[in-house]
Amino acid sequence: LQTWGIPIVISYLLGSISFSYLLTKWLKGVDIRDYGSGNAGATNTSRVLGKGPALVVFLLDALKGMAAVGFGYWMAGNSPDVKLVMMVCGIAAIIGHNWPVFLGFRGGKGIATTVGVTCLIGFTAAVVAGVCAILFILFTRYVSVGSLVYTSIVPVMMWLLDYPTAVVWLMLIVSVMALWRHKQNVINLFKGNERKI
Ligand code: G3P
Repeated sequence: LQTWGIPIVISYLLGSISFSYLLTKWLKGVDIRDYGSGNAGATNTSRVLGKGPALVVFLLDALKGMAAVGFGYWMAGNSPDVKLVMMVCGIAAIIGHNWPVFLGFRGGKGIATTVGVTCLIGFTAAVVAGVCAILFILFTRYVSVGSLVYTSIVPVMMWLLDYPTAVVWLMLIVSVMALWRHKQNVINLFKGNERKI
């Protein structure tokens, strides 16, 4: 329980802290989920508060993913499963971000938190995926496309770079979760009415 239970619960609670919700409530007194895409994340923050606050939200959401992974590392101690515990904590934080206990389980899509998690677990994979994602966003003006490019490339890169099989599989679960959370974006993209930046 000490190796898995406590880190998972703490990471989930950490992930449940929604910085987009807190910042828009604090600066504008509104619930971000009533605006734009209805998503509690950095992209929607840019629609409600602008690009600066959106960047702050992105960094804080990424940081909480890193904190969860770091906490997992600390709790795992000398366990041979340390990478796995870190990854599981990261996933728990992403789940917390997407389905936060503090906000009636209506949160975000988990991309910024995934970026934080993957930076600590697979930095090279994160950099390659990040560069591709940024290029896609710049060319298409769709953040959702960049998000899905990111989450698709990371597991492939981890597999190519010989990461532990369990970590690669867990990363694939993260990718499927991201696709699931972006289903409305995908529908909008096919219909041609996805919001551009
Ligand atoms: O990371 C979320 C982004 O991919 C899409 O956000 O608000 O346009 O649904 P949004």
